[in-house]
Amino acid sequence: MTTIAVLGAGQAGSTFARVAIAAGYDIVIANSRGPQTLQALVAQLGPKARAATVADAAAQGDFAFVAFPYAPHSTLPVAELAGKIVLDNNNYMIWRDGNYPEVDSGRKTVHELRQEQLPAAKVVKAFSHVQFHPRVEIRVPSDALPALIRLARPACAPDRKAMVVSSDHPDAVELVTRLYDEFGFDAVDNSPLRESWRSAPGTPMWRHSVDGQGREELISNLQRAQRPGRAG
Ligand SMILES: NC(=O)c1ccc[n+]([C@@H]2O[C@H](COP(=O)([O-])OP(=O)(O)OC[C@H]3O[C@@H](n4cnc5c(N)ncnc54)[C@H](OP(=O)(O)O)[C@@H]3O)[C@@H](O)[C@H]2O)c1
Repeated sequence: MTTIAVLGAGQAGSTFARVAIAAGYDIVIANSRGPQTLQALVAQLGPKARAATVADAAAQGDFAFVAFPYAPHSTLPVAELAGKIVLDNNNYMIWRDGNYPEVDSGRKTVHELRQEQLPAAKVVKAFSHVQFHPRVEIRVPSDALPALIRLARPACAPDRKAMVVSSDHPDAVELVTRLYDEFGFDAVDNSPLRESWRSAPGTPMWRHSVDGQGREELISNLQRAQRPGRAG
């Protein structure tokens, strides 16, 4: 059985954990305050979930989903994640994170910085543009579901949506492509990490992400992105 380390237990981490468990995975989840603060969430998630410290969760996971806001000075479990695929769903939000000069100048993407911070891991940008919370304007009852659940469709559905994946490591792209499919989405490969600015906040694909995009629409929106100074 595959265990996913989910680092961060807010909207993104808890919703991801719920969907991954429904897809058959085991979850070890962590936050900044310690496993004793996660007992209610773990009880809600059921027997395939357990809580741990960040380091223990990272050590126990076959791969990891990092679901807390990134900062270049953040302490990450570098040794425990060495050799593992690390899904990075972080978005660079200046209002929240402050400014990163290398990203603002277009020299690097924020995901390249994360790869540098985890040099022995295989960082892959994934799940960064799907909402883990209810639709902000609820039009029909299903809008109360997080988009990761609301937009999921079986492989043959004509209205299946696609999500972006970017990495410098083909096996990480392969893993995310499989995971997207299991969760109900197609994948569009926008590798390597230096191209990941095409799916940053403010880009055409980002503006169309609330209700999802089909594969062709997503590819076209990625191609229409214009690189600003800032490289998300
Ligand atoms: N929410 C979305 O729909 C969405 C969509 C796409 C991408 N994202 C990205 O997902 C990330 C998380 O967003 P969110 O909305 O889930 O935030 P959130 O609801 O505020 O949750 C943040 C979580 O991260 C934990 N955390 C903070 N610092 C940590 C650390 N150093 N180690 C381990 N855990 C830590 C927090 O734990 P404590 O409470 O113990 O501090 C909390 O559980 C962000 O980077 C965001 O850009 C979110």
